[in-house]
Amino acid sequence: MEVVILPTAEDCGRVVADVIAAAVTAGPDGNRPTLGLATGSSPVLAYRELIRRHREEGLSFAGVRGFLLDEYVGLPAGHPESYRSVIRRELTATLDIADSDVHGPDGAHPDPLVAAREYELRLLENGPVAVQVLGIGANGHIGFNEPGSSLTSVTRVKTLTEQTRRDNARFFERPEDVPRHVITQGLGTIGRAQHLLLTASGARKAAAVAAAVEGPLTASCPASVLQWHPHATVVIDEAAAARLE
Ligand code: F6R
Repeated sequence: MEVVILPTAEDCGRVVADVIAAAVTAGPDGNRPTLGLATGSSPVLAYRELIRRHREEGLSFAGVRGFLLDEYVGLPAGHPESYRSVIRRELTATLDIADSDVHGPDGAHPDPLVAAREYELRLLENGPVAVQVLGIGANGHIGFNEPGSSLTSVTRVKTLTEQTRRDNARFFERPEDVPRHVITQGLGTIGRAQHLLLTASGARKAAAVAAAVEGPLTASCPASVLQWHPHATVVIDEAAAARLE
């Protein structure tokens, strides 16, 4: 695992954008990569930087396919806080990525268990993901694999912990509006990506980052699976790195 510690969250955003841009421009046009896209606050500065490079430097994403990590269960399609809407708003709508090339679990499916199985199959058919962008929850989750998740799990329905619901309440009008269930790629699913790229900033993430990077590999800290992966990069600012040895 490589750990890159930079002074500010803005610096982290630029480095994460560098890695994604390198993957996008690496292959010939007919062989554009599949990107794994996290939502939430952590990747936002990187996504803004990619948009800037697209607008000002002509970085093209034509032919790139994006796969979301997770989705809330029960929000109607088009709800502004569904992760499909969020990723469109914060990244893909401004890039030259066709909407039909952005995939996510169908959180509005009448049977979320079926939607989870279908998404896992779609990932298998379209993989491998070249670069999987990840944030980390204050409790060490990646995707919505909360502590205790099986290290080899595949895409499935999970119940959010109260801590994660509280953490995400900032995106909703009322705390009780945060859905209780999600469909998330499993830790095994995430591990199939060729390159895991986790980014975090701020002191609130310092304990989780230390557990993921220097603690034991354990389901109690799902992000510790990065230690298992042949190509994992952690890009963090100094505040998030504060509890590393
Ligand atoms: C989002 C996701 C979550 C977030 C994590 C951190 O798609 O899968 O694991 O990355 O909850 O959230 P932020 O970045 O908002 O602190």
